[in-house]
Amino acid sequence: MNVIYPGSFDPVTYGHIDIIDRCAKQFDRVIVSVLNNTAKNYMFTIEERMDLLKKVLDKYENVEVDSFNGLLVDYANKKNCPLIVRGLRAVSDFEYEMQMAHVNKKLQENIETIYLVSREKFSYLSSSIVKEVAMYGGDISCFVPKEVEKALIEKINGGEK
Ligand code: PNS
Repeated sequence: MNVIYPGSFDPVTYGHIDIIDRCAKQFDRVIVSVLNNTAKNYMFTIEERMDLLKKVLDKYENVEVDSFNGLLVDYANKKNCPLIVRGLRAVSDFEYEMQMAHVNKKLQENIETIYLVSREKFSYLSSSIVKEVAMYGGDISCFVPKEVEKALIEKINGGEK
């Protein structure tokens, strides 16, 4: 059985990687799908977000990194994979996740969304928090792999290494 793990991944954190790691052990194939929404303001381009994911997920033979735009259900159809996984960090995630799951089910009846509860140690972690801490010069080494830390620092310093 295959599963799609969609998200913005701007950038990928240890919280995402933990969900992917656990999925890779339970499913035949995990398709990590990066949303390419031109109307949204991301820190990293679609290429950069995918590149970082590919680097940090290199060791997984059954994980692929892909991108999509438009509706997730259309993408899931195209990939012939009606199973979507999302991480749940806290009760505050639940409302938005429920809304998405209901909308996706309404749009396409055969779509199923399943949830993995984030590990407690990652339950406070988000890409936005990591970006904010990095922006103010805080230590982000416990939140993201070193490749991502380097890319974030470079981005904040305006491309200077
Ligand atoms: O990492 P994120 O930003 O929480 O991921 C959200 C994502 C990409 C899963 C969600 O925004 C999405 O699926 N967008 C595609 C557009 C879509 O299908 N919208 C209808 C369902 S709400």
